[in-house]
Amino acid sequence: MCIRDRIIGELGERYEIADWIANWQLSVWQDRIQLVRLRRDIYVTPDESTHGMWSSRWLFVLAAAGSAVGLGNIWKFPYIAGENGGGVFVVAYLFCVALVGIPVMVAEVLIGRQGRQSPINSMRLLVQQSEGSKAWSLIGWAGVAAGFLILSFYSVIAGWGLYYIGELASGGFTGVDGNTATQALAALHSNPILMAVFHTVFMGITIFIVARGVVSGLERAIRWLMPLLFVLLIVLLGYGIASGGFAEGFDFMFALRWESLSFDGLLVALGHAAFTLSIGMGAIMAYGAYVPSSVSITRTVMTIAMLDTLVALIAGLAIFSIVFANGLEPGSGPGLMFVTVPLAFGQMPLGALFGGIFFILVSFAAITSAISLTEPAIAFLVEEYDASRSRVAVGLGIACWLLGLASVFSFNIWSDVYVVGEKTVFDSIDYLTANIMLPLGALFIALFAGYVLPRVTVMSQLGITSESAMAIWTVALRVVAPLGILAVFLYTIWPSG
Ligand code: TRP
Repeated sequence: MCIRDRIIGELGERYEIADWIANWQLSVWQDRIQLVRLRRDIYVTPDESTHGMWSSRWLFVLAAAGSAVGLGNIWKFPYIAGENGGGVFVVAYLFCVALVGIPVMVAEVLIGRQGRQSPINSMRLLVQQSEGSKAWSLIGWAGVAAGFLILSFYSVIAGWGLYYIGELASGGFTGVDGNTATQALAALHSNPILMAVFHTVFMGITIFIVARGVVSGLERAIRWLMPLLFVLLIVLLGYGIASGGFAEGFDFMFALRWESLSFDGLLVALGHAAFTLSIGMGAIMAYGAYVPSSVSITRTVMTIAMLDTLVALIAGLAIFSIVFANGLEPGSGPGLMFVTVPLAFGQMPLGALFGGIFFILVSFAAITSAISLTEPAIAFLVEEYDASRSRVAVGLGIACWLLGLASVFSFNIWSDVYVVGEKTVFDSIDYLTANIMLPLGALFIALFAGYVLPRVTVMSQLGITSESAMAIWTVALRVVAPLGILAVFLYTIWPSG
């Protein structure tokens, strides 16, 4: 009797065997047995995660795009592009998305779906299956830490967004000029209590949703709000074009001025490619665990990456058009979006209404991203301690909220407290996570997927049947992505860089 028949025979008596997935995957319902060896290098993987499943491919696209599209696209991308001189930076970022971001994202979804657990436990399982070193599971732990650190300051910035909903909707920005808009933001920054209040509200909403489980409430909301955000970005871009700054904005973003190239800028571009796609810390890996076996990973990842990039480019074009039409400074830092966008809506007919809606949508995009930042930790704690999702969520939320207060104070009472170099707590956490932890996470995920994961696992998960398709995967994960990351790292650390 062949092994496959024997296993079906043995398991079939105890479990309802649903289906054979691809060539090798046996689905076993309602059971957590993960490790059934069919052959030395072939494993049965369960068809479902214990945390639940996305109800369709489309829902996974929405959830992953919801994670990817966030403050990174609308707030962070324009301001770091501005700080790093535009053109060359934007092109470097696009290269990083294509050569590092997409392959690593595919690897994360694949690992998650093969493991069907939290990133830490999926990594543990796959390490075991591939007979690799236990050290690889550090990827999962580092990811949980990175997610925690990122969420702490993410919530603070998202809090600014919440505050601006009311400010715009009440007409507070109607007809203002650049100066007034800049001062309005400075007033918020100098008020730690106000910032802490909105940080609290944002963290509260996020944890409330996370505690209730991801799929149900979110599904309907994402379906409407994401497209609406897209529409309003187009409105903003339309305003940017009408304001006469578009040509200059476009030129700033795409003209290659090599003198503005800096190695630190390259590292920021690489780090941002990881940040904006939510890769390098297991968020997409965690979501991958809930992806139905029938979904094509490669196609889905391409869709998500394209959506994310498109949103960033539109936001960038809109914001830089406004910057140049109003004589503002492109490199003015984290406040860029919070000055330009209110300014633009303040000059539009029905601007209070549209502006209010815009910040509601930005806040929503931030919430769907924040949720994904918590998922690796939450799923792990639930698995490990059999604790309830809501308890774990509240605990994590409180800890993260506390750390977030340090970022709140970075803008006022602690603005001269430097952690490393000239960096405040907020700047330091941002730098450490985006420019160091995420690229390193991406590097090790690529190496693990490229060198350690068994070939059959990759082929069955990605539905690869041809040698040439396998060769593309191999080169991308073994050579291109790791070398790209290493090159940027070495250049940045090099003394002359
Ligand atoms: N990608 C999100 C943004 O652009 C932020 C984010 C969500 C994230 N999940 C992540 C960043 C995981 C890094 C890792 O706003």
